[in-house]
Amino acid sequence: MLRIEKLTKTFGQNTAVDAASVTVDKPQMIGIIGRSGAGKSTLLRMLNRLTDHTSGAIHFEGQEITALKGAAKREWQSQCAMIFQQFNLVPRMDVVSNVLHGTLNRRSTLATLFNLYPTEDIHRAIDILDRLGIAEHAPKRAEALSGGQQQRVAIARALMQDPRIILADEPIASLDPMNAQVVMQALRRIHEEDGRMVIANLHTLDTARRYCDRVIGMRAGRIVFDADPSKLTTSMAREIYGAGAEFSESATSTEIETLDATEKAKMEAEAYV
Ligand SMILES: Nc1ncnc2c1ncn2[C@@H]1O[C@H](COP(=O)(O)OP(=O)(O)OP(=O)(O)O)[C@@H](O)[C@H]1O
Ligand SMILES: [Mg+2]
Repeated sequence: MLRIEKLTKTFGQNTAVDAASVTVDKPQMIGIIGRSGAGKSTLLRMLNRLTDHTSGAIHFEGQEITALKGAAKREWQSQCAMIFQQFNLVPRMDVVSNVLHGTLNRRSTLATLFNLYPTEDIHRAIDILDRLGIAEHAPKRAEALSGGQQQRVAIARALMQDPRIILADEPIASLDPMNAQVVMQALRRIHEEDGRMVIANLHTLDTARRYCDRVIGMRAGRIVFDADPSKLTTSMAREIYGAGAEFSESATSTEIETLDATEKAKMEAEAYV
């Protein structure tokens, strides 16, 4: 399906991604891990052509993605929707309009100018919000929602494009553990139920382990690990993160737990002492 061959990106003297090769045969849910600066975001950005590559190639179902230009490049970008850590919603605009923004590249300038959307698109947007459990928030301004709800709006906006691939750059890095769990479950469901490929940069090991079929570890631009999560031993993780004996799983992992309400209240109360 997806073939990344010796993909390289240099910024001046700095090689951000160094001859990365990945082959994906079926729509998997893939987590990319590695320390800050390892090249995770650059790899994702090259995948959806936000960043131009220096050398190597990306192929998707017979098409050379790295060679696309103009309208063909935009068509590819709508097929691989991107989700960001900071949600990138329009804060003062209502939720449903934010979601409808996902159809922008299909609409005429005039329709966009006057904020006109076909009724069927509006129904679809509400259906997608409903599927993500946030339909009741459709008329609210995006800024009135919690972080986890906003990230689900961003996922809904991505789904509006009916993408083949969802690229998520640290989708839960700004969320508390409960919301992180809800967002990861939403991505997992979209992967399982719709058969969409999901590739997510993740800052915690345990999230990658828990939700992904495959984990790619990057270090200094190179892919140093690529296997199913069961092979991700602590020593392997140490290798990926380039950490010494001081490395512990908890250093990179915020264990996601379903805190029950009383426990949470207790913790909050203690925080005020
Ligand atoms: N636009 C840019 N111009 C110059 N250098 C860049 C640019 N974008 C990234 N880099 C460099 O490329 C390398 C990889 O950066 P990248 O953002 O891909 O890492 P990352 O793994 O996503 O890190 P983080 O976990 O902090 O998000 C870093 O050394 C970074 O400084
Ligand atoms: Mg990054």
